[in-house]
Amino acid sequence: MVNRLQELESRVRQDLGRAGDLGALEALQFKVLGRKGELTQLLRHLGELTPEERPAAGQEANRVKGVLEKAFEERRSQLSASGSGPAAGMIDWSLPGRRGFRGRRHPITQTLDEVCGIFSRLNFEIVEGPEIELDYYNFEALNIPPDHPARDMQDTFYISEGVLLRTQTSPMQVRVMESRKPPLQIVSPGKVYRRDSDVSHSPMFHQVEGLMVGEGISFGDLKGILTLFVRRMFGEDTPLRFRPSFFPFTEPSAEVDIGCVLCQGGGCRLCSRTGWLEILGSGMVDPEVYRFVHYDPEQVTGFAFGLGIERIAMLKYGIDDIRMFYENDQRFLNQF
Ligand code: FA5
Ligand code: MG
Repeated sequence: MVNRLQELESRVRQDLGRAGDLGALEALQFKVLGRKGELTQLLRHLGELTPEERPAAGQEANRVKGVLEKAFEERRSQLSASGSGPAAGMIDWSLPGRRGFRGRRHPITQTLDEVCGIFSRLNFEIVEGPEIELDYYNFEALNIPPDHPARDMQDTFYISEGVLLRTQTSPMQVRVMESRKPPLQIVSPGKVYRRDSDVSHSPMFHQVEGLMVGEGISFGDLKGILTLFVRRMFGEDTPLRFRPSFFPFTEPSAEVDIGCVLCQGGGCRLCSRTGWLEILGSGMVDPEVYRFVHYDPEQVTGFAFGLGIERIAMLKYGIDDIRMFYENDQRFLNQF
């Protein structure tokens, strides 16, 4: 009996060294120490021994059992520390699960998609363009010659002579008209850059440009499309007004205001006590611009508009500091 116990001990020690992963170790332990395991079987025979043999055999059995149990434990911590092999059968099902992290789209991306979605359902095609732009497209072909005072309206980041970070998405008007024949109906979303920074101005922000050009397109179409947009974006009952304005590349020009979402028109800090908030600039494309893209202003007319996406998101969600969008604070972002 004692011999058989010692034989078992040394064989199991060898097998232990060969158990390369936690699954194999588990199987071996079951085979040796399990309820029907080899050691357990041997111990059943203790009762058949003579009273003289029994004490020594019993003592040895206990020793081997203890030693093997310890050896299994040691091997187990060795294997899990070295992380070798799959832990098949070793999963602790009682541990609490790990919560999955669900990503969200940034509120600016959501607003951008919503705006583009509205126009795309009105049959506007979505076209994207470069953020690094030529002076020609950003200013000159938009009827803003060098030294024109309108350049000061948009303080510009220059990269080199004649190359800049676009200050507006309007250069896409020129790029699209230059490469296509009318009629056309596009929106162009993207990032723009200006030397500008406070609670409502950021050096990088997003705009969506819109352009519709063809025969017989009037200011009435501009009003109709933009009114439809405001209703779909902010709700059917949103008050809006078209206010005369100036842009070098549109004539006539209008800015669109909506009734202040905070004070409902009563007058508050957000709307500078006017009851109105500006959301976009627009106008009929200036004939001077058609000259640059070789369209005939006697044949075609059209309108263009430019929306500030951050501004729209702030109004829609009641956010009073534009910088919140760029701080990546999870507590802020998780609300959308
Ligand atoms: C323009 O940029 C014109 N290109 C819009 C336009 C397009 C007019 C086509 C006519 C035809 P403006 O500089 O006003 O216009 O900017 C448009 C919108 O961008 C503003 O109403 C405002 O919502 C947003 N905006 C302007 N500067 C900033 C800034 N620094 N940070 C965040 N939003 C800004
Ligand atoms: Mg403006």
